[in-house]
Amino acid sequence: MISTPKQLITVVVLAFAVPLTIILLIVQFITGGIKVDPNSSAMSEQAIAKRMNPLSANKSNQMAGGSSSESVAVALDPGESLYNTVCQACHTAGIAGAPKTGDKTAWSERMKLGSDTLSKSVINGKNMMPARGGATNASNDDIRAAVDFMLSKVK
Ligand code: HEC
Repeated sequence: MISTPKQLITVVVLAFAVPLTIILLIVQFITGGIKVDPNSSAMSEQAIAKRMNPLSANKSNQMAGGSSSESVAVALDPGESLYNTVCQACHTAGIAGAPKTGDKTAWSERMKLGSDTLSKSVINGKNMMPARGGATNASNDDIRAAVDFMLSKVK
């Protein structure tokens, strides 16, 4: 079929151009449906920064004179964030016999053990709870902060 160099070049060029054109058309077809209004408040620089990184958005907020120390404190609480990422998996619904967070009856006896002893149970694991609640990278301080956070919910 290909007998001259000119034909070869044509075939090579087409072999690239045709699939490329098809891909571009597909991409355009898919993204064509997504319309973003650049003037909407969701697209403001601050809103975007906040979605990308809640902490830095708070910082820039503060630098701009806004006071959001409360949200910084919430975002930086290591206990709450560890709880939200790991511990809640069992403790929100009481999976595998875990004492439910906020359930005063379930916690009343355990609270008497004190935060130190409870933190040790978590660090070493207890019955169905794996060591560190499975958060193998969490430091002892983080675990303790998460325990304190859980205890604060039954006070
Ligand atoms: C896989 C499920 C699971 C995860 C994840 C988990 N726990 Fe538990 N947790 C349990 C179970 C089950 C118990 C009850 C253990 C028992 O007394 O038999 C428990 C008990 C506890 C207790 C009471 C310990 C005691 O001595 O009575 C504390 C405090 C606790 N968990 C904190 C945490 C913290 C903090 C995390 C996250 C770092 C966490 N748990 C993650 C299942 C889990």
